[in-house]
Amino acid sequence: MSSTAIPVPVLPLRQGTAGTEPVAIPQLGFGTYKVGDADAERIVDQALQVGYRHIDTAQMYGNEAGVGRALAACGIPRDQLWITSKLNNPNHRREDALRSFDATMADLQLDVLDLFLVHWPLANSPGIDLVDTWRTMIEILQSGRVRAIGVSNYQDEHLRTIIDATGVTPAVNQVELHPYLTQRELRTVHEGLGVVTESWSPLGRGRLLEDPELARLAEELGVRPAQVIIRWHLQHGLVVIPKTTHVERMRANADVFGFELTAEQMAAVDALDRGLRTGSHPDQVQV
Ligand SMILES: NC(=O)c1ccc[n+]([C@@H]2O[C@H](COP(=O)([O-])OP(=O)(O)OC[C@H]3O[C@@H](n4cnc5c(N)ncnc54)[C@H](OP(=O)(O)O)[C@@H]3O)[C@@H](O)[C@H]2O)c1
Repeated sequence: MSSTAIPVPVLPLRQGTAGTEPVAIPQLGFGTYKVGDADAERIVDQALQVGYRHIDTAQMYGNEAGVGRALAACGIPRDQLWITSKLNNPNHRREDALRSFDATMADLQLDVLDLFLVHWPLANSPGIDLVDTWRTMIEILQSGRVRAIGVSNYQDEHLRTIIDATGVTPAVNQVELHPYLTQRELRTVHEGLGVVTESWSPLGRGRLLEDPELARLAEELGVRPAQVIIRWHLQHGLVVIPKTTHVERMRANADVFGFELTAEQMAAVDALDRGLRTGSHPDQVQV
């Protein structure tokens, strides 16, 4: 397959351990939640053809094998791809984490993963210890089979607990973040710690696309509401991973480097915040 990569800016990641080579994550990626394994090969292949080079998957999505088939067939040099996966909730205990990481790598057909995240903190799950889980992630990092480790859905106190106990700061925290849930406080915490913020459900699972203010801004800029939202994430220095199963939307969601939101337009989108979650609150998720 030959396709031209979308020229996407990268964000340097804080190093998890001393001596590892510098790592930088592409700011725009492609989400695969709810893309079943049977469709994943075709959909990821289409995304790669459109020019995405950063794919976000997870053990929980059950599609790593399909993603792996697309990666194996694409012919794109490995160093031009960025692949993220995540540790599933039942796999936090050391043996389960190590075994499931092996399965992830086998399914993705990769020798080295770019980023491995703890999917949910499970802070209220009996028998699960945030620090133990993070120590296993550090062990995986030190094995050299992943370039960076991070977390997902961690709140301020979860981050501080694992950093204080281990001295190793997650490179990334992937959290629900969009104009209805701007996570201003958590973003400030991340800035202080040197953690890159990654936005999941960046379009609010599509719900934001009907917002009248976003429609007004889209008209003003001559683009679509989804493009306004993705541009807003990029201009806030966030990593953004919109998901779509439609090729035409894949193209539109990546066509966000030819225009900019003014400071006034950014503020108008910021003002839409209403603390609205489209997914689970981190405290609710248990094994
Ligand atoms: N770490 C976590 O706990 C976590 C949780 C959730 C998600 N994620 C990650 O974040 C990724 C993105 O989040 P998400 O999939 O929940 O939601 P999203 O990207 O915010 O929105 C996806 C929805 O928007 C629609 N859509 C996308 N682009 C569109 C466009 N240009 N015009 C109109 N509709 C459009 C899609 O429909 P079609 O597909 O029908 O086009 C789909 O219904 C996931 O795929 C996953 O990789 C992580």
